[in-house]
Amino acid sequence: MPSPTRLFALAALLVSAAAVVPPAQQGLPGAPDNTTANAPTPDNESIVQTAGQVNQKTSAPVDTPPDASVPPTTVTAVDGTVTNTTIAGASAGTRRRSAGRLGKRQSGYTEIFKPLPASEHDASIEGTAYLTYTVVSNATYDVQACLDFCDTVDGCEFVNLYYEFNNYLLDFVFSQESNLKCAAYGDIHNATEKTNFGGQASYPQVGNETVPLTYITQSSGWAADSLIEPTTPDGYELVFGPTGGANNAPGYMGFAFLDRYDVTACAALCNGRGADPVGGVCQYFNIWRAVVDGIPTTYTCSMYYIPADASTAVNFGQGDLVVTLSRGYSRLSVLPDGGFEGYTACDDFCFTDSYANWIGTSSSGGQDDATVFFFPPYARTGHGSGLLGSADDADSFNGTLTPAQPLTTEKGKSYVVQAFVGNDFSGQPLENTAFVFILWNGVKVGEVTGFQHYTPVQATVTATGKDVLSFTGGDAPAWSFLDDISVFGLLE
Ligand SMILES: *[C@@H]1O[C@H](CO)[C@@H](O)[C@H](O)[C@H]1NC(C)=O
Ligand SMILES: *[C@@H]1O[C@H](CO)[C@@H](O)[C@H](O)[C@H]1NC(C)=O
Ligand SMILES: *[C@@H]1O[C@H](CO)[C@@H](O)[C@H](O)[C@H]1NC(C)=O
Ligand SMILES: *[C@@H]1O[C@H](CO)[C@@H](O)[C@H](O)[C@H]1NC(C)=O
Ligand SMILES: *[C@@H]1O[C@H](CO)[C@@H](O)[C@H](O)[C@H]1NC(C)=O
Ligand SMILES: *[C@@H]1O[C@H](CO)[C@@H](O)[C@H](O)[C@H]1NC(C)=O
Ligand SMILES: *[C@@H]1O[C@H](CO)[C@@H](O)[C@H](O)[C@H]1NC(C)=O
Repeated sequence: MPSPTRLFALAALLVSAAAVVPPAQQGLPGAPDNTTANAPTPDNESIVQTAGQVNQKTSAPVDTPPDASVPPTTVTAVDGTVTNTTIAGASAGTRRRSAGRLGKRQSGYTEIFKPLPASEHDASIEGTAYLTYTVVSNATYDVQACLDFCDTVDGCEFVNLYYEFNNYLLDFVFSQESNLKCAAYGDIHNATEKTNFGGQASYPQVGNETVPLTYITQSSGWAADSLIEPTTPDGYELVFGPTGGANNAPGYMGFAFLDRYDVTACAALCNGRGADPVGGVCQYFNIWRAVVDGIPTTYTCSMYYIPADASTAVNFGQGDLVVTLSRGYSRLSVLPDGGFEGYTACDDFCFTDSYANWIGTSSSGGQDDATVFFFPPYARTGHGSGLLGSADDADSFNGTLTPAQPLTTEKGKSYVVQAFVGNDFSGQPLENTAFVFILWNGVKVGEVTGFQHYTPVQATVTATGKDVLSFTGGDAPAWSFLDDISVFGLLE
């Protein structure tokens, strides 16, 4: 009869053996973890509160020359903190509207509000998304010249035409010799926003004479009949919009306010957003206009690590704040089937070395060192996942998973590779020797070692065109699962 010690040792062996039934035999992960559960949703209150703190409403200044180039888009708040920063290279606002593109407008303009009679003091618009101004000849009240100007300013949706009197620079310094100002905006404003009555001292003080103050007459507003359809930023696709609903979706990373509705600037913020430790990089953004008490107030850029769509665009506003012009954009991966969802040889449990989209290669003499599984418990999302390390625990050699086709990358462009790696199947300490190397054209650009639940890892790479991505790793029973792999382009 075996000694109790031997029995105990045998039992321990059985238990530990039972704990590592290999993936090929449908073993269950020792430490399952649902990392997409409890993903945060937008903090409406913080957005509403911050919208009450920013003031993005301006008029054409009294003291700067006409025809200044449109400044880059400004970020006026980030995650509830008011800021004043520009997004380098991200703004569409510095480019002229390109003819024949989406930005081309077919239609004309409609008068939103009429000027007051010339004998009365009037007011100019103080509104969001001010872009620049010009002066047009004041021989007549030349509306057409002002509309023509709008056509030349990228992003112009609206112009405010008015006379400004007692502006010394207009009267004596600027070469145009006109006081008929035409201010261009990237959003439409109505007469309730005519709040700038002038009252500024522009003329120099001479002796003890009273300096005449600026005043405004004949202020009219003209809006483009069709809003410009924003150009979809490089590396993204339009998912929905425009609608009156902002997303209320999981995977929310935070928000920024922009001083105008600049989709490309929002894309740049998403690309530049630091990765969430659980959810990874920004993969989706929702841009919308906040209208407070009927007045355009700010432009929200909300970022997500889980792509959303119109089905969750159900936040129509809170209190006085109304959501308008909401659009969702999803980041495009140049890697097809990064989630191994294309492997559908069964509907419950199966695995393979290779299929149409991925190729698994074992070490010489190894067996099933790189495989793809259909089995939801192994997947981070969906039913597919990749496995490195001998699936049946036949050896401890590494394997390599690589997409079946080289990537459709653009030479010279930067990309961020992201993969979710789960090294938890066998638990600790067996997983302590787990490792995954990310290789770009055979060169190691990133790695993960040791026990972890599905966690995102990133590597920034430069493409040479037709690049080869691969993942090498596995030291069974220190298995490594891969899922939700993406290769996202960065803006030029
Ligand atoms: C993981 O969490 C998500 C979101 O809560 C849920 O929809 C999904 O059913 C969960 N999956 C599992 C396997 O528990
Ligand atoms: C933001 O900063 C720029 C440059 O420093 C300054 O000209 C501008 O007035 C600032 N805007 C606000 C709203 O503070
Ligand atoms: C036209 O503008 C010039 C320069 O500001 C000004 O001196 C002149 O009085 C203006 N004429 C009219 C008709 O407003
Ligand atoms: C302005 O100055 C002049 C002479 O310098 C003086 O005669 C006049 O009284 C002053 N007017 C006022 C209102 O102070
Ligand atoms: C201006 O816009 C506000 C908000 O949309 C609206 O309440 C108001 O009626 C508008 N005014 C005019 C003159 O259209
Ligand atoms: C935000 O607003 C949406 C839509 O009104 C609502 O469903 C959601 O619960 C709100 N979220 C929070 C955190 O208050
Ligand atoms: C993978 O295994 C092969 C063959 O055993 C070995 O030559 C190679 O060094 C291993 N690679 C890594 C990254 O460990």
